[in-house]
Amino acid sequence: MMAKSMAASLSENTFDAAREKLIVALDVPTASEARSVASELDGNVGAFKIGLQLFTAAGPDLVREFVGSGKRVFLDLKFHDIPNTVAMASVEAVKMGVWMFNVHTSGGSDMMARAVEAAKEYADSNGLSKPLMIGVTVLTSSGTAGSADEKAVELAKSAEKAGMDGVVASAHEAAMIRKNAESADFVIVTPGVRPFGATNDDQARVMTPEAAIRAGADHIVVGRPILNSKDRAAAALAIIDEIAAALK
Ligand code: C5P
Repeated sequence: MMAKSMAASLSENTFDAAREKLIVALDVPTASEARSVASELDGNVGAFKIGLQLFTAAGPDLVREFVGSGKRVFLDLKFHDIPNTVAMASVEAVKMGVWMFNVHTSGGSDMMARAVEAAKEYADSNGLSKPLMIGVTVLTSSGTAGSADEKAVELAKSAEKAGMDGVVASAHEAAMIRKNAESADFVIVTPGVRPFGATNDDQARVMTPEAAIRAGADHIVVGRPILNSKDRAAAALAIIDEIAAALK
């Protein structure tokens, strides 16, 4: 309850700016659970991430339903295949009207460039806006030590060169990636975020929401700390508060 009153004390602009940055991972097994989480969180989230689990269970219909009801969707399918296949899959993501989707940077420059080109072309010739296209760098569960920084920066550079809009990266790499990005608008999306005092689950390299935003993340992805909470709206509001603290 305290979280609610703190979020309520933020100015509307700060609240909106902080809320925009919160992406909630809908890691649930059915469309009906996804709908119920979404309605619990109504107004307290910037975007919903539909990933492998939910997409495999509920498919593109649920994505279209969410997009159709005005929700921002981050389609997290981490495309990684031959350039032609990823380019064609990217066109399908554009057709669904998602706000953001991702491909694996390790799929290579040609794969990323072809995906961007195909998405742009389809969006332009059909009067649609191209979703933000984000490259996955180093998975936050891998716990790679030491060289993770350099590797992530290198992959982020190759993503930017290939025309991608940004990357998914651990908060630990965000500052280095931000420093090395050519465009100030390069988008950094950071999972592996845990509110103060929360469990790490299987995330090996975690950071708090405030620290992640301070490190240079534009958006944070939060799943279990919200999904497993008894009061999901309050959990989201508490995270929005932590984000807002970094915007001051
Ligand atoms: O539950 P939790 O907050 O750990 O969820 C993190 C979400 O972010 C999951 O949906 C996971 O697939 C995703 N993710 C990640 N690390 C990446 C990319 C995506 O944890 N590098």
